[in-house]
Amino acid sequence: MNHHRISRRGRAGARTIALLALLAAGPAAALFVSNLRRNEPWPEPVRTATAVGDSTCLSCHSDKASYEGTAHRLTTQRPSHATIAGNFQAGRNVLRTPNPNLYFHMDADSAGFTQTAVLRTGKDSTTRTERIAYVSGTRKGQSYLYWEGNQLYQLPISYWASLGTWINSPGYVDGSMNFERRISPRCLECHSTWIRQIMDPGASNRYDSTGVILGITCERCHAAGQEHVARERSALRALKGPAIVNPARMSRQRQMDACAQCHGGLGHPIAPTFTYVAGKPLERYLTLTAPKANERIDVHGNQVAALMRSRCYQASQMTCLTCHDPHRTQRDPTELSGRCLTCHQEQSCKLFPKQGHALKGRCVDCHMPLQESDLIDSGLEGTEERALERTHWIKVWGNGTSR
Ligand code: HEC
Ligand code: HEC
Ligand code: HEC
Ligand code: HEC
Ligand code: HEC
Ligand code: HEC
Ligand code: HEC
Repeated sequence: MNHHRISRRGRAGARTIALLALLAAGPAAALFVSNLRRNEPWPEPVRTATAVGDSTCLSCHSDKASYEGTAHRLTTQRPSHATIAGNFQAGRNVLRTPNPNLYFHMDADSAGFTQTAVLRTGKDSTTRTERIAYVSGTRKGQSYLYWEGNQLYQLPISYWASLGTWINSPGYVDGSMNFERRISPRCLECHSTWIRQIMDPGASNRYDSTGVILGITCERCHAAGQEHVARERSALRALKGPAIVNPARMSRQRQMDACAQCHGGLGHPIAPTFTYVAGKPLERYLTLTAPKANERIDVHGNQVAALMRSRCYQASQMTCLTCHDPHRTQRDPTELSGRCLTCHQEQSCKLFPKQGHALKGRCVDCHMPLQESDLIDSGLEGTEERALERTHWIKVWGNGTSR
């Protein structure tokens, strides 16, 4: 499997030899090459025509293989029994609503997976059936998208993992039949790598279904990889730059931008969707509205604004990468509490004199508690369910989840 494994020394060696050769050839040539490298254009955003795909990246970077199982990678997928969490068995495949005349059923057949609304009107009933085209989400819940011609819509029924049931899609009125929610380009910009939009001033949800790259792939964060791969395979690779974006080499602000394009709230786009590449100033592509001083920051969708409110962030060089490695799944609060100790000690906690080492591994529980989101709330047979998420405002919270 591993025969393409990178030899860092090999590459550095090749570089050294090339540089020595250049020095021998004269300083002018060395200057020429270093200018060549400096003037190289920044890599392009990825699209179908320029993507090499994760398997090619992994043929050399096999140490990043764990990325393939992450929530980013799997955030949009094609429907299958493996990717849809909801249950299609008779009895479990029905969602009733507070409206006695309306219910939904979900079905699997050889052609795929469908959602059907059944509305009784007098002694007749009307039904509407749509086919699941894409599945979004793997962790707390899933929503499902469908095509009508070349227009993409959200289906009315979603799935919640904590309840293990089908549920009305967040924000839908429980007891209504709504197939009209359009999937905006921004929704796909956060939840996929690329899609070709078909411009229509009357409908922002027209796309070319053949030009979609589902999930967030390597090249979404690192830019289109064709040129990088060509160079790494070429004998002259040491003479040129790597032609790929490495966020590790970016400033703190650019590193924050790279995550903020999807974790900084909805914002207002000022450039076409899917044109931002990590390393560029995000403010030229998207205006993120900073919340006012006293404004509540919902736990959903804006980890950046919450983190920026924290003393930790303000009084250090902290970024998202201080705690997160995007190439693997990290959901263990005990392990992540270890990240606090790169700057603090257990002794820094005011509770240390009383609780001592019992605090170890629990910093996150008290200082980044789970909170309810007001934005993700779903109706379920007349009751309301809200998603619980981890706040990124690191501070002393009163009683656990208070705001
Ligand atoms: C043919 C092998 C090969 C393939 C395929 C490949 N890379 Fe690389 N990549 C390398 C080598 C070799 C390096 C240099 C390693 C070093 O010097 O540390 C590198 C470096 C990088 C770097 C760091 C660049 C820097 O400035 O430090 C990133 C990021 C990267 N690759 C991402 C990718 C992505 C994303 C893909 C798929 C689009 C990919 N690579 C495909 C061989 C490959
Ligand atoms: C969500 C964004 C994101 C995705 C997707 C992503 N990376 Fe990265 N990658 C980063 C960040 C951020 C860094 C810098 C890490 C750091 O400094 O800790 C990085 C660093 C790297 C590096 C250079 C540093 C190193 O650790 O060798 C390579 C190579 C790399 N990524 C390859 C990949 C490959 C291959 C994939 C897909 C399998 C991938 N990345 C997917 C964000 C991403
Ligand atoms: C292209 C949009 C995009 C970018 C860029 C992006 N994210 Fe995400 N991120 C998402 C989405 C969407 C989810 C939710 C995925 C899901 O559950 O379906 C997510 C989920 C996460 C999670 C939760 C993962 C889990 O397994 O619980 C973490 C942590 C995270 N992102 C950190 C980062 C960091 C750090 C960066 C910057 C290096 C980053 N993201 C860049 C879109 C993005
Ligand atoms: C600005 C970026 C952004 C937009 C726009 C956006 N999302 Fe998300 N979405 C995220 C992030 C980030 C997460 C996970 C972290 C969180 O909840 O803050 C997430 C979480 C989710 C989840 C839960 C996933 C899981 O694994 O539990 C679903 C489902 C989802 N989004 C669907 C959608 C749909 C459908 C749309 C468009 C109608 C949409 N989102 C619009 C960024 C976005
Ligand atoms: C990159 C370094 C860094 C990391 C990592 C870090 N902090 Fe901090 N934190 C700081 C600094 C610096 C301060 C401000 C200290 C001061 O004002 O004297 C601070 C302040 C705090 C405060 C006081 C907040 C307030 O509003 O006064 C708490 C509580 C705290 N940190 C908890 C944590 C926890 C829990 C973690 C892990 C989830 C963590 N920190 C991770 C650097 C960090
Ligand atoms: C001080 C450490 C720390 C920093 C810095 C940090 N996170 Fe997190 N993050 C955590 C912890 C702890 C969790 C909870 C993990 C879990 O319970 O699954 C988490 C969870 C998440 C989740 C999933 C939230 C949910 O409940 O669904 C997302 C998304 C996320 N982080 C994004 C980011 C982004 C984007 C940044 C930078 C703006 C960032 N994080 C900075 C510690 C950190
Ligand atoms: C059981 C909940 C709990 C746990 C676990 C916990 N803390 Fe605290 N922490 C608190 C409370 C409450 C305060 C404020 C106490 C006060 O002001 O009297 C505090 C205060 C702090 C402060 C601010 C001190 C100051 O100068 O204002 C820091 C920093 C801190 N904790 C870091 C940590 C770290 C690091 C960990 C993990 C080793 C941790 N805490 C674990 C509840 C907790």
